[in-house]
This record gives sequence, structure tokens and C-alpha cells, in this order.
Amino acid sequence: MAAIEAIDLTKRYGTRTAVDGLTFSAEEGEVVGLLGPNGAGKTTTIRLLTTILEPTSGTFTVAGVRGDLVRERVGVLPESAGYPGRQSGAEYLRYAARLFGASRSEARSVADRLLTDVGLAERAGARISSYSRGMKQRLGIARALVNDPAVVFLDEPTLGLDPSGQRAILAMVADLASRRGTTVVLSTHLLSEVEESCASVLILDRGRLRAAGPIGDVVADRGSLSAAFLALTEPGS
Ligand SMILES: Nc1ncnc2c1ncn2[C@@H]1O[C@H](COP(=O)(O)OP(=O)(O)O)[C@@H](O)[C@H]1O
Ligand SMILES: [Mg+2]
Repeated sequence: MAAIEAIDLTKRYGTRTAVDGLTFSAEEGEVVGLLGPNGAGKTTTIRLLTTILEPTSGTFTVAGVRGDLVRERVGVLPESAGYPGRQSGAEYLRYAARLFGASRSEARSVADRLLTDVGLAERAGARISSYSRGMKQRLGIARALVNDPAVVFLDEPTLGLDPSGQRAILAMVADLASRRGTTVVLSTHLLSEVEESCASVLILDRGRLRAAGPIGDVVADRGSLSAAFLALTEPGS
């Protein structure tokens, strides 16, 4: 069973077509890089596949289900996630787990395990307002995993981080995916890191899918992923 199957997925805002007839599938357990210049339709695609937005047309399944059932099977780090600064990371994750129906003790153990997984165990009790940007992104990734999703969508998880923070986040994501067997779709502009940590990519430009599949196939004879990206896309805004 494919982790994601999208058929002719389209989203229009008035006359603007943000996502234009996407047809693709993603395999279970793989890390998929969702690439494209600003405005290409990455965030809209993630919002469609996590059922935040309704498609104008087209259909999709995630983790083998469609419609309202999708929400229970996915986790998401939204494009601009906000955090309650006065809560600790542990409180925030326990609360999120409770929203998914965990008991108090379950919520505590889920939060502890995820904080360890994302490297925040030592700061679990500190207020989120004292966290660095990278720590907040780690917390957001932990939050996206709280319902043990089959498919996780991370919208620019490395945004605003320094190069070592970016690499650390992507390495952590690849490690989590392989240990948990979770499918991860992550949008990013870091092409060289994508080449290291993703099995396959989707390249969008102006709402259209320009390439999809294993990185080796997409790069083909272009030499590198960034060369392929530049050949397939127009400069963003
Ligand atoms: N709520 C909205 N209303 C109108 N246009 C939108 C809305 N959200 C996104 N768009 C447009 O859809 C296109 C794709 O945007 P988006 O999915 O955010 O791209 P990306 O995440 O790749 O930068 C852009 O042209 C953007 O301006
Ligand atoms: Mg975006």
C-alpha cells in the first residue's frame, strides 16, 4: 500500500491555481523531499493532504484512508507554528497527547519518549520561551508525532536555522523515519541535505509537478539535485 496516493489534486484560489493537477504516490517509510521555489504550492499541498484545506478537485488517500479518517493518521509541523511560551516542552506535549485521547499517565510517557527522541530531554521542564529556534522546531516535530502517525508532514522544518542546526534537524528526521517506519514528507530549500536524507523528491513549480521519484532518477544525467532543480523550475518570488 502506498503511504500517499494523489490523483489530479488541484486547489484554486479564485483565478489563481496554487496546486495544479498533482498525481503522485509515496512509499511507506520513505522520506520525501517536497521542493520548489517560493509560491510553488508546497504549503498548499501539505494543507490538502492533511485535510486542513479541501481540494477544488482531485482525490487522495493517506495511509490507505481518505476524508476525515486522514487526520488520525497524520502529523504535521505547520509552516508557521506558534508555541505557548509559558508552558514547558513537556507540558505542551502532554497536553497535545491528551487532545488525542491519551490518559494522564500515557500522555506523560509519550511526552517523555518524544522529548528524548528529538533531543530535548534535558530541557523538558524549561519554559518554551527559553528555547532556541532549533529547539522549538524539534518540539514542533515531537508534537507532530504525538498521535503516532503513519505519515508526517513537515513544512520547512529547517527554516531560520543555522547550517549545523539545519543538518541536525534533517538527520534527526531521517533517523526517526527509519526507526519508526514513518513516512515523512518535508518541504525545504536545502537541496544538498535533501540529497543525503531523502529517498525521493517531488519538485513543484507554479503548482505543477515537474519531477517525482527516487533522487537518482530525478537527477539522472543532470549531475546534481540542484542542477535538476534549476533546470525544472523558474526563480521564485
Ligand atoms: N489563502 C490563499 N489565498 C490566495 N492565494 C493563496 C493562498 N495560499 C496560497 N496562495 C497562493 O498559492 C500559491 C502557492 O502558495 P504556497 O502553497 O504557500 O507555496 P509555497 O509553500 O511553495 O511557497 C502562491 O501563489 C500563493 O500566493
Ligand atoms: Mg510554504
